[in-house]
Amino acid sequence: MDRVKLVEVGPRDGLQNEAARVPTAVKIELVERLADCGLRHIEAASFVSPKWVPQMADGAAVLAGIRRKAGVVYSALTPNLKGLAAALAAGADEVAVFTAASESFCQQNIHCSIDQSLARFTPVLAEARARRIRVRGYVSTVLGCPYEGDISPDAVARVAGALYRMGCYEVSLGDTIGTGTPGKARAMLAAVRREVPITRLAAHFHDTYGQALANLYAVLEEGVRIADCSVAGLGGCPYAKGASGNLASEEVVYLLHGLGFQTGVDLARLVETGHWISQQLGRENSSKVGRALGHQ
Ligand code: HMG
Ligand code: MG
Repeated sequence: MDRVKLVEVGPRDGLQNEAARVPTAVKIELVERLADCGLRHIEAASFVSPKWVPQMADGAAVLAGIRRKAGVVYSALTPNLKGLAAALAAGADEVAVFTAASESFCQQNIHCSIDQSLARFTPVLAEARARRIRVRGYVSTVLGCPYEGDISPDAVARVAGALYRMGCYEVSLGDTIGTGTPGKARAMLAAVRREVPITRLAAHFHDTYGQALANLYAVLEEGVRIADCSVAGLGGCPYAKGASGNLASEEVVYLLHGLGFQTGVDLARLVETGHWISQQLGRENSSKVGRALGHQ
Protein backbone atom coordinates (compact mmCIF):
# COMPACT_ATOMS: atom_id res chain seq x y z
CA MET A 1 0.00 0.00 0.00
CA ASP A 2 1.19 3.51 -0.79
CA ARG A 3 2.56 5.46 2.15
CA VAL A 4 2.49 9.18 2.87
CA LYS A 5 5.12 10.71 5.11
CA LEU A 6 3.64 13.13 7.61
CA VAL A 7 5.63 15.97 9.14
CA GLU A 8 3.90 17.15 12.30
CA VAL A 9 4.59 20.86 12.72
CA GLY A 10 2.15 21.60 15.57
CA PRO A 11 4.78 22.12 18.29
CA ARG A 12 6.54 24.72 16.10
CA ASP A 13 4.23 26.24 13.47
CA GLY A 14 1.24 25.50 15.66
CA LEU A 15 2.52 27.20 18.79
CA GLN A 16 4.82 29.95 17.50
CA ASN A 17 1.97 32.42 17.13
CA GLU A 18 0.30 31.82 20.52
CA ALA A 19 0.20 35.13 22.34
CA ALA A 20 0.37 33.68 25.86
CA ARG A 21 3.55 31.83 26.75
CA VAL A 22 2.95 28.08 26.56
CA PRO A 23 4.78 26.35 29.44
CA THR A 24 7.82 24.33 28.36
CA ALA A 25 6.37 21.26 30.10
CA VAL A 26 3.25 21.46 27.91
CA LYS A 27 5.38 21.70 24.76
CA ILE A 28 7.39 18.66 25.85
CA GLU A 29 4.26 16.66 26.63
CA LEU A 30 2.78 17.63 23.25
CA VAL A 31 5.83 16.33 21.38
CA GLU A 32 5.81 13.10 23.40
CA ARG A 33 2.10 12.52 22.85
CA LEU A 34 2.50 13.11 19.09
CA ALA A 35 5.30 10.54 18.96
CA ASP A 36 3.06 8.12 20.85
CA CYS A 37 0.42 8.60 18.13
CA GLY A 38 2.84 7.11 15.60
CA LEU A 39 4.13 10.35 14.07
CA ARG A 40 7.75 9.86 12.98
CA HIS A 41 8.76 13.41 12.02
CA ILE A 42 8.03 16.12 14.54
CA GLU A 43 9.14 19.73 14.19
CA ALA A 44 9.66 20.41 17.86
CA ALA A 45 11.38 23.79 18.10
CA SER A 46 12.67 26.88 16.37
CA PHE A 47 16.03 28.59 16.92
CA VAL A 48 15.20 32.10 15.78
CA SER A 49 15.53 35.49 17.40
CA PRO A 50 13.58 35.47 20.68
CA LYS A 51 12.95 39.17 20.09
CA TRP A 52 10.85 38.31 17.02
CA VAL A 53 9.28 35.04 18.12
CA PRO A 54 9.36 34.94 21.94
CA GLN A 55 7.13 31.85 22.08
CA MET A 56 9.95 29.72 20.65
CA ALA A 57 12.65 30.98 23.03
CA ASP A 58 12.67 27.74 25.06
CA GLY A 59 13.56 25.46 22.12
CA ALA A 60 16.67 24.09 23.80
CA ALA A 61 14.72 23.17 26.95
CA VAL A 62 12.02 21.51 24.86
CA LEU A 63 14.50 19.35 22.95
CA ALA A 64 16.41 18.51 26.12
CA GLY A 65 13.23 17.57 27.99
CA ILE A 66 11.69 15.19 25.48
CA ARG A 67 11.65 11.49 26.28
CA ARG A 68 13.04 10.35 22.93
CA LYS A 69 11.31 7.58 21.08
CA ALA A 70 13.38 5.38 18.80
CA GLY A 71 12.74 5.99 15.13
CA VAL A 72 11.34 9.49 15.63
CA VAL A 73 13.05 12.48 14.03
CA TYR A 74 12.87 15.63 16.16
CA SER A 75 13.63 18.67 14.01
CA ALA A 76 13.99 22.43 14.40
CA LEU A 77 13.95 25.60 12.29
CA THR A 78 17.34 27.28 11.90
CA PRO A 79 17.52 30.52 9.88
CA ASN A 80 21.30 30.93 10.12
CA LEU A 81 24.52 29.50 11.59
CA LYS A 82 23.67 30.80 15.05
CA GLY A 83 20.38 28.89 14.94
CA LEU A 84 22.11 25.78 13.62
CA ALA A 85 24.69 25.81 16.41
CA ALA A 86 21.94 26.16 19.04
CA ALA A 87 19.82 23.42 17.45
CA LEU A 88 22.71 20.98 17.27
CA ALA A 89 23.79 21.73 20.84
CA ALA A 90 20.21 21.00 21.92
CA GLY A 91 20.20 17.68 20.08
CA ALA A 92 17.99 18.32 17.04
CA ASP A 93 18.09 15.32 14.67
CA GLU A 94 17.35 17.40 11.62
CA VAL A 95 17.08 21.12 10.85
CA ALA A 96 15.20 23.29 8.39
CA VAL A 97 16.08 26.53 6.64
CA PHE A 98 13.29 28.79 5.44
CA THR A 99 12.83 31.47 2.83
CA ALA A 100 10.03 32.64 0.54
CA ALA A 101 8.95 32.99 -3.07
CA SER A 102 8.03 36.64 -2.48
CA GLU A 103 10.59 39.36 -1.73
CA SER A 104 8.31 41.34 0.59
CA PHE A 105 7.44 38.36 2.74
CA CYS A 106 11.09 37.33 2.93
CA GLN A 107 12.03 40.82 4.14
CA GLN A 108 9.28 40.85 6.76
CA ASN A 109 10.01 37.35 7.98
CA ILE A 110 13.80 37.08 8.00
CA HIS A 111 14.91 40.64 7.16
CA CYS A 112 16.78 39.93 3.95
CA SER A 113 16.19 39.39 0.25
CA ILE A 114 15.56 35.92 -1.18
CA ASP A 115 19.05 35.77 -2.67
CA GLN A 116 20.60 36.94 0.61
CA SER A 117 18.68 34.21 2.42
CA LEU A 118 19.99 31.58 0.03
CA ALA A 119 23.53 32.88 0.52
CA ARG A 120 23.01 32.70 4.29
CA PHE A 121 21.94 29.06 4.00
CA THR A 122 25.05 27.94 2.12
CA PRO A 123 27.27 27.76 5.25
CA VAL A 124 24.36 26.28 7.23
CA LEU A 125 24.14 23.42 4.73
CA ALA A 126 27.92 22.97 4.67
CA GLU A 127 28.10 22.75 8.45
CA ALA A 128 25.07 20.44 8.64
CA ARG A 129 26.58 18.16 5.99
CA ALA A 130 29.85 18.01 7.95
CA ARG A 131 27.84 16.97 11.02
CA ARG A 132 25.74 14.49 8.98
CA ILE A 133 22.53 16.34 9.78
CA ARG A 134 19.83 16.47 7.13
CA VAL A 135 18.41 19.83 6.13
CA ARG A 136 14.88 20.52 4.96
CA GLY A 137 14.11 23.68 2.99
CA TYR A 138 10.90 25.68 3.24
CA VAL A 139 9.52 28.05 0.64
CA SER A 140 6.78 30.34 1.97
CA THR A 141 4.07 32.18 0.02
CA VAL A 142 3.99 29.59 -2.78
CA LEU A 143 0.31 30.25 -3.52
CA GLY A 144 0.04 33.90 -2.54
CA CYS A 145 1.67 36.63 -0.51
CA PRO A 146 0.02 38.97 2.01
CA TYR A 147 1.90 41.94 0.47
CA GLU A 148 2.27 41.04 -3.21
CA GLY A 149 -0.82 38.91 -3.91
CA ASP A 150 -0.34 36.32 -6.65
CA ILE A 151 3.04 34.64 -6.89
CA SER A 152 4.12 33.11 -10.17
CA PRO A 153 4.81 29.36 -10.25
CA ASP A 154 8.17 30.16 -11.85
CA ALA A 155 9.19 32.27 -8.84
CA VAL A 156 8.41 29.33 -6.55
CA ALA A 157 10.28 26.92 -8.83
CA ARG A 158 13.38 29.15 -8.82
CA VAL A 159 13.63 29.20 -5.02
CA ALA A 160 12.67 25.54 -4.54
CA GLY A 161 15.26 24.52 -7.14
CA ALA A 162 17.95 26.60 -5.47
CA LEU A 163 17.25 25.00 -2.07
CA TYR A 164 17.33 21.51 -3.57
CA ARG A 165 20.55 22.13 -5.48
CA MET A 166 22.29 23.52 -2.41
CA GLY A 167 21.56 20.25 -0.60
CA CYS A 168 18.14 20.36 1.05
CA TYR A 169 16.95 16.76 0.93
CA GLU A 170 13.31 17.84 1.02
CA VAL A 171 11.58 21.06 0.01
CA SER A 172 8.36 22.01 1.72
CA LEU A 173 6.00 24.25 -0.23
CA GLY A 174 4.15 26.61 2.10
CA ASP A 175 0.82 28.21 1.33
CA THR A 176 1.54 30.52 4.24
CA ILE A 177 -1.71 32.49 4.17
CA GLY A 178 -3.95 29.73 2.82
CA THR A 179 -5.21 31.62 -0.23
CA GLY A 180 -4.44 28.82 -2.69
CA THR A 181 -6.97 26.72 -4.54
CA PRO A 182 -6.45 23.28 -6.14
CA GLY A 183 -5.92 24.64 -9.67
CA LYS A 184 -3.27 27.06 -8.43
CA ALA A 185 -1.63 24.31 -6.39
CA ARG A 186 -1.42 22.07 -9.47
CA ALA A 187 0.03 24.84 -11.63
CA MET A 188 2.62 25.70 -8.97
CA LEU A 189 3.59 22.04 -8.61
CA ALA A 190 3.91 21.60 -12.37
CA ALA A 191 6.58 24.31 -12.40
CA VAL A 192 8.35 23.20 -9.22
CA ARG A 193 8.66 19.54 -10.22
CA ARG A 194 10.75 20.59 -13.20
CA GLU A 195 13.39 21.71 -10.65
CA VAL A 196 12.89 19.27 -7.75
CA PRO A 197 11.92 15.58 -7.97
CA ILE A 198 8.34 15.11 -6.83
CA THR A 199 9.47 12.55 -4.23
CA ARG A 200 11.36 15.38 -2.48
CA LEU A 201 8.44 17.80 -2.29
CA ALA A 202 6.20 18.35 0.72
CA ALA A 203 2.85 20.13 0.87
CA HIS A 204 2.57 22.65 3.72
CA PHE A 205 -0.89 24.13 3.50
CA HIS A 206 -2.57 26.56 5.84
CA ASP A 207 -6.35 26.51 6.05
CA THR A 208 -7.31 30.19 6.27
CA TYR A 209 -9.82 29.91 3.41
CA GLY A 210 -10.83 26.28 4.05
CA GLN A 211 -8.96 25.10 0.95
CA ALA A 212 -6.07 23.21 2.51
CA LEU A 213 -7.54 19.71 2.33
CA ALA A 214 -8.66 20.24 -1.28
CA ASN A 215 -5.20 21.55 -2.14
CA LEU A 216 -3.57 18.55 -0.50
CA TYR A 217 -5.82 16.19 -2.44
CA ALA A 218 -4.89 17.95 -5.68
CA VAL A 219 -1.16 17.52 -5.13
CA LEU A 220 -1.57 13.93 -3.87
CA GLU A 221 -3.17 13.18 -7.24
CA GLU A 222 -0.08 14.63 -8.89
CA GLY A 223 2.17 12.33 -6.85
CA VAL A 224 3.24 14.31 -3.76
CA ARG A 225 3.74 11.88 -0.87
CA ILE A 226 4.87 14.17 1.98
CA ALA A 227 2.39 16.30 3.91
CA ASP A 228 2.96 18.79 6.73
CA CYS A 229 0.17 19.02 9.27
CA SER A 230 -0.57 20.40 12.71
CA VAL A 231 -2.56 18.66 15.41
CA ALA A 232 -5.92 20.33 16.17
CA GLY A 233 -5.19 22.69 13.26
CA LEU A 234 -3.03 24.83 15.53
CA GLY A 235 -1.02 27.56 13.96
CA GLY A 236 -0.45 30.74 12.10
CA CYS A 237 2.52 32.85 11.17
CA PRO A 238 3.62 35.97 13.03
CA TYR A 239 4.48 37.65 9.71
CA ALA A 240 1.33 36.73 7.82
CA LYS A 241 -1.62 38.68 9.16
CA GLY A 242 -4.82 36.68 9.21
CA ALA A 243 -3.10 33.38 8.52
CA SER A 244 -4.93 30.65 10.35
CA GLY A 245 -3.71 27.24 11.35
CA ASN A 246 -2.05 24.57 9.32
CA LEU A 247 -4.16 21.83 7.88
CA ALA A 248 -5.16 19.72 10.91
CA SER A 249 -3.27 16.44 11.26
CA GLU A 250 -6.55 14.68 12.12
CA GLU A 251 -8.07 15.78 8.77
CA VAL A 252 -4.97 14.65 6.88
CA VAL A 253 -4.89 11.21 8.53
CA TYR A 254 -8.65 10.72 8.03
CA LEU A 255 -8.35 11.65 4.35
CA LEU A 256 -5.28 9.49 3.75
CA HIS A 257 -6.69 6.42 5.48
CA GLY A 258 -9.93 6.90 3.54
CA LEU A 259 -7.92 6.89 0.32
CA GLY A 260 -6.09 3.72 1.37
CA PHE A 261 -2.73 5.33 2.20
CA GLN A 262 -0.69 4.20 5.17
CA THR A 263 0.51 6.80 7.65
CA GLY A 264 1.45 4.77 10.73
CA VAL A 265 -0.69 7.10 12.82
CA ASP A 266 -3.29 6.03 15.37
CA LEU A 267 -6.16 8.42 14.60
CA ALA A 268 -7.98 7.90 17.92
CA ARG A 269 -4.87 8.85 19.89
CA LEU A 270 -4.26 11.81 17.62
CA VAL A 271 -7.79 13.05 18.24
CA GLU A 272 -7.23 12.69 21.98
CA THR A 273 -3.99 14.68 21.69
CA GLY A 274 -5.77 17.39 19.71
CA HIS A 275 -8.34 17.76 22.48
CA TRP A 276 -5.70 17.77 25.15
CA ILE A 277 -3.61 20.56 23.57
CA SER A 278 -6.71 22.62 22.75
CA GLN A 279 -7.69 22.41 26.42
CA GLN A 280 -4.18 23.40 27.52
CA LEU A 281 -4.35 26.46 25.27
CA GLY A 282 -7.90 27.28 26.28
CA ARG A 283 -9.15 27.27 22.72
CA GLU A 284 -11.68 25.37 20.69
CA ASN A 285 -10.36 22.41 18.73
CA SER A 286 -10.07 23.59 15.08
CA SER A 287 -10.07 20.05 13.71
CA LYS A 288 -13.45 18.94 12.35
CA VAL A 289 -12.40 15.30 12.56
CA GLY A 290 -11.29 15.95 16.13
CA ARG A 291 -14.68 17.44 16.99
CA ALA A 292 -16.57 14.61 15.26
CA LEU A 293 -14.61 11.77 16.83
CA GLY A 294 -13.76 13.26 20.21
CA HIS A 295 -15.80 13.16 23.37
CA GLN A 296 -15.90 16.77 24.45
P1 HMG B 1 17.97 39.98 11.93
O1 HMG B 1 16.98 40.72 12.73
O2 HMG B 1 17.95 40.20 10.48
O3 HMG B 1 19.39 40.46 12.37
O4 HMG B 1 17.80 38.43 12.26
P2 HMG B 1 20.67 39.79 12.93
O5 HMG B 1 21.04 38.53 12.21
O6 HMG B 1 21.67 40.89 12.91
O7 HMG B 1 20.29 39.47 14.45
C1 HMG B 1 19.54 40.36 15.25
C2 HMG B 1 19.48 39.80 16.67
O8 HMG B 1 18.96 38.47 16.65
C3 HMG B 1 20.86 39.68 17.30
O9 HMG B 1 20.67 39.85 18.71
C4 HMG B 1 21.23 38.26 17.05
O10 HMG B 1 22.17 37.75 17.96
C5 HMG B 1 19.93 37.57 17.19
P3 HMG B 1 20.90 41.27 19.43
O11 HMG B 1 22.32 41.61 19.11
O12 HMG B 1 19.91 42.23 18.81
O13 HMG B 1 20.62 40.97 20.88
N1 HMG B 1 19.85 36.32 16.44
C6 HMG B 1 19.43 35.15 16.93
N2 HMG B 1 18.99 34.80 18.16
C7 HMG B 1 18.64 33.52 18.33
N3 HMG B 1 18.68 32.59 17.36
C8 HMG B 1 19.13 32.90 16.13
C9 HMG B 1 19.51 34.23 15.88
N4 HMG B 1 19.97 34.87 14.79
C10 HMG B 1 20.18 36.13 15.14
N5 HMG B 1 19.15 31.97 15.18
C11 HMG B 1 16.60 36.38 11.89
C12 HMG B 1 17.48 37.45 11.29
C13 HMG B 1 16.26 35.39 10.81
C14 HMG B 1 17.34 35.71 13.00
C15 HMG B 1 15.32 37.04 12.45
O14 HMG B 1 14.73 37.83 11.48
C16 HMG B 1 14.31 36.05 12.98
O15 HMG B 1 14.56 35.32 13.92
N6 HMG B 1 13.09 36.00 12.40
C17 HMG B 1 12.02 35.12 12.85
C18 HMG B 1 11.51 34.37 11.70
C19 HMG B 1 10.49 33.31 12.13
O16 HMG B 1 10.72 32.55 13.06
N7 HMG B 1 9.36 33.23 11.40
C20 HMG B 1 8.37 32.22 11.64
C21 HMG B 1 8.82 30.88 11.11
S1 HMG B 1 8.71 30.73 9.32
C22 HMG B 1 7.11 30.15 9.05
O17 HMG B 1 6.33 30.04 9.97
C23 HMG B 1 6.74 29.68 7.66
C24 HMG B 1 6.70 28.16 7.51
O18 HMG B 1 5.80 27.57 8.44
C25 HMG B 1 6.24 27.80 6.09
C26 HMG B 1 4.95 28.51 5.66
O19 HMG B 1 3.91 28.33 6.28
O20 HMG B 1 5.06 29.27 4.71
C27 HMG B 1 8.07 27.54 7.75
MG1 MG C 1 3.61 27.41 8.12
